[in-house]
Amino acid sequence: MKKTAIILAVLLCFVNCAESLPTYESDLPPILIQGAMKIETDILISALEDSHDVTIAHWHYAAGKIGGYPVVISVTRCEGVNASVSTALAIETFKPCAVINQGTAGGHDPELRRGDIVIASDCFNASAWKALPSAKGEGVNYRDINLLDVNFYDEYENGEEITFLPADEKLKASALAVKGKYSGGKIVEGRIATYDSWENRVDNILFLHEKFGSSCEEMETFTVAKVCRVYGVPFLGVRIISNSALTGEGFIPELGHDCQAFVIEIVKNYIKEMNR
Ligand code: 5AD
Repeated sequence: MKKTAIILAVLLCFVNCAESLPTYESDLPPILIQGAMKIETDILISALEDSHDVTIAHWHYAAGKIGGYPVVISVTRCEGVNASVSTALAIETFKPCAVINQGTAGGHDPELRRGDIVIASDCFNASAWKALPSAKGEGVNYRDINLLDVNFYDEYENGEEITFLPADEKLKASALAVKGKYSGGKIVEGRIATYDSWENRVDNILFLHEKFGSSCEEMETFTVAKVCRVYGVPFLGVRIISNSALTGEGFIPELGHDCQAFVIEIVKNYIKEMNR
């Protein structure tokens, strides 16, 4: 609740003062591609033609074109509050036709190795759960939780219970269609677990994988998917496994470059599909 209040306060501050948001002129609605860190956005930014920088508070965007089509690259910064505020500001400013959030992640599926890429069929908030009660001195069992549905804290879905936010089918199909362009590992469809934590405890990772079907974990996707859902903007999450406690592979942040290169292929294909 505290986190939601902070997000709302920041959003109100910006959205209510629309004149303080920069203006963006484009003949066609851009595709917004996000990454949390420099290592997850630098290749994308350098792939832009005719680009210019836009900064709103401490969120940076580079607006330009890929293959002649308008694209905005957004450096969201890490974790959910940054990612969700940055997304809402981008949607208000650039009015994108689609959003792709991409970057590095930790493996939750024992079959996934560093360098494999997860195209997310859906995602969930692994921080949003209600624990079963336990008495004083009884200890805490990390397995005694049930995920909260999205409507636990929002009522805009007319009572429908949604825990896993789905990807846009057209974006996902565009991504799967260019699988063959990636040679750094497997490309799989999967489920992203988002939370403001970095899990290294193998038993808990396996629990999340077995009980909720998570393929990987990171800190932004669900929060972006939720903002996109509110605005009705098509969304896709794409993550490269850059570390896995399950396989003992440590964090290689530079794998963010491989993910960006693959996302450029997705975007080019999506643009081609839109022009059909
Ligand atoms: N757990 C959580 N976040 C991770 N990230 C990469 N691997 C993991 C992991 N195992 C990403 C997050 C965040 C940054 C710290 O790296 O999405 O942006």
